[in-house]
Amino acid sequence: MIILPGPASQDLAKRLVAELKTRLVPVFFKKFPDGESYIRIEGDVQDRHVIVVQTTSPPQDERMMQLFLLASAAKKQGAQRITAVVPYFAYGRQDKIFLPGEAFSIKTVIDILKACGVTQIITINAHNPIALEGLNIPIKDLSAITLLAKHFGDKSFKGAVSLSMGKKGVATAKEAANILKGTYDYIPTRRDRHTGKVSIEEKTLNIENKVAIFFDDIISSGGTMIKAVAHAKSQGAAKVYAACVHPLLMADARERIIKSGADGVVGTDSVPSPVSVVSVAPIIAKALINQGA
Ligand code: R5P
Repeated sequence: MIILPGPASQDLAKRLVAELKTRLVPVFFKKFPDGESYIRIEGDVQDRHVIVVQTTSPPQDERMMQLFLLASAAKKQGAQRITAVVPYFAYGRQDKIFLPGEAFSIKTVIDILKACGVTQIITINAHNPIALEGLNIPIKDLSAITLLAKHFGDKSFKGAVSLSMGKKGVATAKEAANILKGTYDYIPTRRDRHTGKVSIEEKTLNIENKVAIFFDDIISSGGTMIKAVAHAKSQGAAKVYAACVHPLLMADARERIIKSGADGVVGTDSVPSPVSVVSVAPIIAKALINQGA
């Protein structure tokens, strides 16, 4: 097994190499003056199981294209099989056709990856794991929630209330509560099919004078988390933290979340950012080892 580091996940790829005690084949990349991406694999990948590591957080289209180029170059160089490790899977939120005429984006991306020679995909906390079924390629969806909860694992967080966005996300809160030995709950959410904006419903939470930690798959504009944090504060929480697997944190999302009352924002290196203090490398390595990669 050898690791090919994508331009967007250089550090994560190195952490994965350390976890797996395997080899990294360098990749040269540059951007042409007109914005097009250039990729060259600088080593031998022939007859090897190649692990391409490339997250596809913004700028998604550029990073997706780099992923396509990297996989197809590995295929051309004779890779035996190609696993794409795509911690944040862009276009995963368009996981069905909501309105007539829409593109089924996640399926289009998967079809291109298959055409580029990808034989398996590993991702982390996909927006809708069920949507990944039936896409005709093995996809492993790992959860980084336990790792995130362990970050809050010291005594001062013991018994904290783990909270998730939406009833569907309650398994997330439960997973975290297991680690923190506390209770869990969720805030009901609703997504506008036209604008994509998420609104939260007021709900009484049993968090007065307690530490509340929101666990979400993604913080993008920060809009959902800001409303959730403000709601938790209005319910008397002593401290509120915002934790997510994929900290896209567009524009000044982090600052706005803190301003809304959060005591901290924490994320993983699925998406490199100033809050990416938890590494997902151990769970990716474990998944690869378990399947005898
Ligand atoms: C909602 O379904 C997701 O779990 C996130 O809460 C949402 O996608 C975050 O987006 P934003 O930060 O733009 O509100």
